[in-house]
Amino acid sequence: MEKKPVKIVETVLRDGHQSIAATRMRITDMLPVLEKIDAAGYYAIEAWGGATFDSCLRFLNEDPWERLRTLKKHLKTPIQMLLRGQNVLGYNNYADDVVTEFVKRSVDNGVSIIRIFDALNDTRNLETAMRATKAAGGHAQGCIVYTISPYHKEENFVQLGKELVQMGADSICIKDMAGLMRPYAAEKLVKALKAELDVPIDLHTHFTSGMGDMTLLKAIEAGCDIVDTALSPFATSTSQPCTESLVATLEGTPYDTGIALPKLHELADHFKAVKASLTKDFDLHTNIPIDPKVLTFQIPGGMLSNLINQMKQMGIGDKYEQLLEEMPRVRAELGYPPLVTPTSQIVGSMAVMNVALGKRYSMIPREVKDLARGKYGRTPGPIDPEVLKLAVGNLPIITHRPADDIPPQLESLKAKLAEAGYPNADIDDVLTYASFPEVALNFFKNNR
Ligand code: CO
Repeated sequence: MEKKPVKIVETVLRDGHQSIAATRMRITDMLPVLEKIDAAGYYAIEAWGGATFDSCLRFLNEDPWERLRTLKKHLKTPIQMLLRGQNVLGYNNYADDVVTEFVKRSVDNGVSIIRIFDALNDTRNLETAMRATKAAGGHAQGCIVYTISPYHKEENFVQLGKELVQMGADSICIKDMAGLMRPYAAEKLVKALKAELDVPIDLHTHFTSGMGDMTLLKAIEAGCDIVDTALSPFATSTSQPCTESLVATLEGTPYDTGIALPKLHELADHFKAVKASLTKDFDLHTNIPIDPKVLTFQIPGGMLSNLINQMKQMGIGDKYEQLLEEMPRVRAELGYPPLVTPTSQIVGSMAVMNVALGKRYSMIPREVKDLARGKYGRTPGPIDPEVLKLAVGNLPIITHRPADDIPPQLESLKAKLAEAGYPNADIDDVLTYASFPEVALNFFKNNR
């Protein structure tokens, strides 16, 4: 058989600790081993974006841009980030000028590959970020957000893949954020995509349901070019499958990654100690077992632990099982959105309210109303008519690209920041402020 080495994206510096340690890993936890990571032979290191930006500012008193520049100083291996399309790293749509500038600065500061997704797979929400990535000289990876519903068939995903390539995607990521993709479904989908597309296919899955290793292996046998894994201390449970195990599995086969296992063991020893210190310093619950129930409830990795904590704080920890049943019901009524940031939070908070208040939809958060009326884009399926009536009322329905309603924001953000006492803020600080205004001001107060 012809050699076809599988490329590995190491996620320990982003999704690994986001999934298992509430995104609390600090740059000081990474620095001692960056050169070793660089020498291991990875295709890319996922190290920025997702929740890391918010966490840096909110919990770690770290400038996320500074973290990126530091990583870049020590890594020649391409740095990859995760971007929420028109939402950038926040939870709402931004104007095109903010999206474009954010992408440009990400590339300028050290990101090589930008993985871009939209929670609803509405490609209109990816256009600006994809264009900006190409313009900045980055590798634009378009995402197929994977979920299971009557509106998510294999042909829908292949069609989406084609659209992404037409839009300029340099590679395609199948993003299975909740670990729902079964091994044989992965084999079928990867084959179908490889038959239709000429760009590399990357599979990003989570171990949540316990199938992650098998799913990656079947995808690899079907021709998947790139897979995401995390070093063992931050792997499995709600994170990615384990890097060392996969590298060992493929050793001596046509898919051999070329990565030397002993180098990974050394790295794993370091991150084992990091995990212990994060668990202690931040009082984290990092020992999350696999949960095959996710196949029914579809709650993504990091969200499970957050929901448990949220419900305990509300004094309704005993209603957790009820919530697990309410989630899929609410999701169906809201048009079967894939559950990923921000739709996971939107569906999750509606389900929590329904369970907490007893009477369903007696209180409806603004984000749920916005989702129902198209402010986040097209939902895969229609909104339940009763819920639509309750949620939308007389508000206008949005059928165009949602960001078309948002006038440029950069100049007014600069003005606001000047008013807040930072007239000479550089562009990265302006983008930080755009992303998380209150948290940013608090960070500036302590650090500028
Ligand atoms: Co993920």
